[in-house]
Amino acid sequence: MLTTPARTLSGVLAVLAAVASAAATPDSLPPQQHSHRTTSASAGCGKSHKPGYHYYNEHGNFSIISGGLSRYYSVQVPVAYDASETHALIFDYHGNSDTSTEQHNNSQYYNYAASQDYVVIYPQGLDRHWEGPTYAVAGIDDLQFTTDLLAHVQAQYCIDSDRVYGKYQVQSVYMRPLLTVMQYVSSFSETVWWDITQGLHLTFGQASGKSNGGGFVDTLACSDHGDSFAAFAMASAALYTDVNRTDCSKKHAIIESHGDQDTVIPYRGGQGSGGPLPNVGEWVSWWGERNCGEDAEAQTSGDLGGYNITSYSCSGFENVTQHYHFAQLGHCWPNGFGDNYDAVHLTSQHCSEVRVLDYTPVVLDFFGRWDLKCAPKK
Ligand SMILES: *[C@@H]1O[C@H](CO)[C@@H](O)[C@H](O)[C@H]1NC(C)=O
Ligand SMILES: *[C@@H]1O[C@H](CO)[C@@H](O)[C@H](O)[C@H]1NC(C)=O
Ligand SMILES: *[C@@H]1O[C@H](CO)[C@@H](O)[C@H](O)[C@H]1NC(C)=O
Ligand SMILES: *[C@@H]1O[C@H](CO)[C@@H](O)[C@H](O)[C@H]1NC(C)=O
Ligand SMILES: *[C@@H]1O[C@H](CO)[C@@H](O)[C@H](O)[C@H]1NC(C)=O
Repeated sequence: MLTTPARTLSGVLAVLAAVASAAATPDSLPPQQHSHRTTSASAGCGKSHKPGYHYYNEHGNFSIISGGLSRYYSVQVPVAYDASETHALIFDYHGNSDTSTEQHNNSQYYNYAASQDYVVIYPQGLDRHWEGPTYAVAGIDDLQFTTDLLAHVQAQYCIDSDRVYGKYQVQSVYMRPLLTVMQYVSSFSETVWWDITQGLHLTFGQASGKSNGGGFVDTLACSDHGDSFAAFAMASAALYTDVNRTDCSKKHAIIESHGDQDTVIPYRGGQGSGGPLPNVGEWVSWWGERNCGEDAEAQTSGDLGGYNITSYSCSGFENVTQHYHFAQLGHCWPNGFGDNYDAVHLTSQHCSEVRVLDYTPVVLDFFGRWDLKCAPKK
């Protein structure tokens, strides 16, 4: 789909032309500008969908087969869904013991105008868990489920893609031998090669989640399966798979919120119900260093009225790691109106009383800043 022989041939001709003129140098890479709309479309373009929240169609609940099992999901189709235009994509993961519909009502993306460009997918965990903690169902591969579901969504919906440059994106069987030949005949780096061939168009999404779902979003960020996502957002993340800095060697745009009074995933770490947990503040510094290097320094906001923000920035990557620390909040997706799922059901965590900040528009803002081209990747 991405690299037809014809496209490859034109790429080769373009490279030969460039070799002849010797005009291409690494300095000639285009600026990595942010843009949601691209000219390339996913296979699902042309298929229409009814706006609104859905978890079933005329054939029953939405599901795919992954790892030999039926795996379920639900979807929010934006009001202005247009089958002929590409849309941005969010995968939003629920907490332990919860459902996709509960997470739909927790993040409430649909309440915000900034979500109107997004198709939001709510995957359902097997037995309501995600892999990582000891309480998850043994042997379930939710990373593969994510990749399988992403492929399914791309085939069903019209989703944004980005032109991506780089070695790790070389996937086509047609491309590999040609790339070898071209490297032989030219001294250009692969990055320049992709510059000349205009890169590959890859569809991508953003990932978010709460608690066990937030921890899984971190697991995803640290895995190659996460390379199809531009940015990662969590609330009260259950970070069972990321307990020291060297656990993860990726660079990614990360935002997390955590309540200081969280009694399910305590801010200062320790033994959780699914294994050992890191200190959240330390985990934030690990992501700061993963993205910006060992000498990375945090910027702290000071008290903003019941919460503060820690940010890491480095060349080209402003606020690439961000952390919202709430003084009085428990184990919640922070909600400004006190009516989301946590606010209504998790009363013991003070979710409805602490209305200092609405986290969802913060997340949408963060997602709006990152796509596959401009986000850090490794
Ligand atoms: C479909 O999903 C809903 C919501 O999760 C659930 O209540 C219902 O039992 C499911 N139906 C089937 C046939 O799986
Ligand atoms: C979902 O959230 C709305 C508020 O936006 C609330 O009125 C409704 O009762 C919630 N539904 C469920 C099932 O929690
Ligand atoms: C990091 O954590 C892993 C377990 O996830 C452990 O095997 C490893 O020894 C730890 N490394 C350090 C430096 O603590
Ligand atoms: C980065 O974060 C700082 C502090 O919160 C804020 O003042 C600034 O506007 C942010 N920049 C971007 C691009 O989000
Ligand atoms: C941020 O807020 C938390 C919770 O109130 C507090 O413990 C921490 O010291 C604050 N950090 C900064 C840098 O102000």
